[in-house]
Amino acid sequence: MRVPVLGKVSVFALLVMGAYTYYANSIPQLQSKPPEELSLEGGNVTPEQLVKAGEGIFKEKGTCEVCHRIGQKGTRAPDLAGIGATAAKRKPGMTAKAYIIESLLDPGAHLVEGYPNIMPKVDRPPIGLNRSELWAVAAFLESLGGTVGVKLDDIPKTAVAAEVKLPGDPKAGQAVFMGKGGCIACHKAGAIGASPVGPDLSQIAKIQTPEYIMAKILNPAGMGTVAGYPAGVMPATLGQTLTAREYLDLVAFLLTLKGEGAAPAAKK
Ligand code: HEC
Ligand code: HEC
Repeated sequence: MRVPVLGKVSVFALLVMGAYTYYANSIPQLQSKPPEELSLEGGNVTPEQLVKAGEGIFKEKGTCEVCHRIGQKGTRAPDLAGIGATAAKRKPGMTAKAYIIESLLDPGAHLVEGYPNIMPKVDRPPIGLNRSELWAVAAFLESLGGTVGVKLDDIPKTAVAAEVKLPGDPKAGQAVFMGKGGCIACHKAGAIGASPVGPDLSQIAKIQTPEYIMAKILNPAGMGTVAGYPAGVMPATLGQTLTAREYLDLVAFLLTLKGEGAAPAAKK
């Protein structure tokens, strides 16, 4: 009988990821509320105010601009110019409004051709938009070539998942990043590194979930290829070469990367 070859770290990572998901789902009462939360529930708000608020969220809290530009190609995600109109044609029988909401809450349900499934659910950490904020962003997207018609009631009431700290020492992880892991040969990470071979990771913790980051290290190809970058370049052997400790420390380090030292305009 052949036993599948699975690196020790991979098994360990699955356990940690499982624990993370378990905690995240089991303690919803530990909501982490960012300070600048927008609440529009019950208030009178004109479509213009809503669109304006949504634009602000698109640029700031939503971190959408790190991946998407409006009217500009060459970033890692589709150009959203005209999405208010094109959204109506994406899925047969689905209205523009429904498609826009789905693309925020369940981005993997429909993939734009040529792009990988890397967009995080924006109502979950690390982006974690609340219901009012989702409403505003959806209105802003509708305004790009379409008609603003989204109502607060169109946005499902969702519980914000808790943010859970993973064990691991970021300082030791930085050493792995620069040393044994070899990441620095291809990636910039805040103040360290400068290689343009792989994406700048300086704000990876702002735009990606711990699950994605953990899985990407172990199985780069399985997580899809970031648009604008070559496939098969990131080594697939890290699950075998890193120890469990090194892996956890490395992930802890990556989770500290929240934007400091990112290249201007966050383009590749
Ligand atoms: C980590 C990068 C990333 C971030 C952050 C991100 N997106 Fe995306 N988004 C993508 C990618 C890649 C796609 C294409 C694959 C897909 O359809 O899921 C996409 C698809 C979309 C689509 C569908 C576009 C179409 O033409 O059908 C919409 C709408 C969208 N994103 C809106 C947003 C908004 C709004 C935000 C911020 C709240 C955001 N995205 C944050 C990467 C990202
Ligand atoms: C030989 C070059 C190379 C090395 C070494 C390398 N990577 Fe990568 N990495 C890439 C490339 C190219 C991409 C983009 C293509 C893809 O998605 O596979 C990438 C993508 C990523 C992403 C996804 C980024 C995003 O914006 O979604 C993460 C996270 C990542 N690498 C982390 C690491 C870590 C951590 C290490 C060290 C343990 C490492 N990489 C080592 C080349 C490399």
